[in-house]
Parts: sequence; structure tokens; C-alpha cells
Amino acid sequence: MRIIETKTYEELSVLAADILTEQLKRKPDSVLGLATGSSPIGMYEVLVDRYQKGEVDFSRVTSVNLDEYIGLNGDHPQSYRYFMDTHLFNLVNIDKSRTFVPNGLTTDGERDGLLYDEHIESLGGIDLQLLGVGYDGHIGFNEPSDTFVVHTHVETLDPSTIEANARFFSSADEVPKQAMTMGLGSIMKAKKILLIASGEKKAKVLREAFSGKVNPRIPASVLQLHPDVTVIISEK
Ligand code: GLP
Repeated sequence: MRIIETKTYEELSVLAADILTEQLKRKPDSVLGLATGSSPIGMYEVLVDRYQKGEVDFSRVTSVNLDEYIGLNGDHPQSYRYFMDTHLFNLVNIDKSRTFVPNGLTTDGERDGLLYDEHIESLGGIDLQLLGVGYDGHIGFNEPSDTFVVHTHVETLDPSTIEANARFFSSADEVPKQAMTMGLGSIMKAKKILLIASGEKKAKVLREAFSGKVNPRIPASVLQLHPDVTVIISEK
């Protein structure tokens, strides 16, 4: 695992964008595993800026997102599909028909979760998976648990996650209680992983995740077992 520390969020965003840009130079038809949340917003801004300057090309990219809230359709401003459209997909030359986000309106989470994993396999797997991390150590929406859940599935969100994500909604009551998330096995199959996080609170979570034993109570700890993980953490 390679851990890079930066002073500011802006530096983190540029470094993360550098890694994605390099990936697309090396393999223009990469399958990118993408993430939402506040952490990657700066990185997406840098990528959009580079696209406008002709420095990065998304025309051959396929993307698969980590997760989606159950009950929100893609037009809902807090859905992760909407987030991706407005922060990246509508602003670059990616083919929208090759951007995939789990279906928040699923009526059969188990079936659709397995289909999502099969779809990723059929694309040849994820070349580079971007991750953030929650304050309870979740990645995607894989919450602390007694076991690691391997496949894409519907997860019930922890009260602490609902509280943390309430800042994007008008109240905590409006935050969906469940989400469809790539499983930890789906994430771990990615060829490369890039995790970004900011601030002391996240640094503490990551210290716990990476210094102790691999433990499903801190889902991010599973990344210790992946052969190619880069973590960028900024002080602020
Ligand atoms: C959500 C997302 C995660 C994300 C986490 C941290 O719960 N499902 O993928 O990593 O929030 O978000 P933030 O970057 O806003 O702190």
C-alpha cells in the first residue's frame, strides 16, 4: 500500500486526478470504478478542466459506480446517478450509455446485485477503483458488520452514516435507509484501488483500518489484502 500525505484538499485533488489521467493515457478504454461523496468533487473538477483543455479523453471509458440509494431515481438531486451526471458525465465526452450506477429502484436487490457483478466481469473487471471512506470505516456503503459481504447487495445504513450524509438532504429523515452497494469482493477484484480522504477524523479511521488486523468491523481494513492500493490523505 502506498500512502501519500498532502497538506491541502486541492493538492489531493490534483494528485488523484493525475492518477486517473495516467490510467486513461495508458489504457484509453479503461473501466473506471467511480465514487461519490464530497471527497472526489475536487478531483472531478480537475478532470473536467483537463478535458476542456484537451488533456484527457473519456470517449472510450466505461464506468461503474460503487453505490446508489434505494428509493431514489436518477433524477433525484441526491441520487448518486445525478451526482455523477452533474459532476462528471455531463461535462466530459464519456458515452453515457457506458456509465453504470446500481439501480436504486430495484425490486429484487439480490438478483440485481449479482447481475451488477456479472456485468462488471463481462466488462473485463475494473481497471481502477476510486474510493472514499466513511467515518465508521465503510467503503462504498459496506457498513461495519460481523462478516465481509462479497457481492453487490442492498445494505441497511448505519445511523452514523445517515447522520453524516444528512448534510446533503434537508433533514436526516429524508436520507434513504438503504443503499445498493458493490460488495467488498467486487471492490477487491479491481486491478488498482485509489482511496482519497481528508482531515484528521478520516486519518484516524484509516490508521485503525490499516494498522490493526483485517476486521469486518472496519470494512476499509480489507484493503490491506489488495496488492495495488494508493491512499491519498490531506491534512485539511
Ligand atoms: C458515502 C458514500 C461513500 C463515501 C462516503 C464518504 O457514504 N457511499 O462512497 O466514501 O460517503 O463521503 P465523504 O467523501 O462525503 O466524506
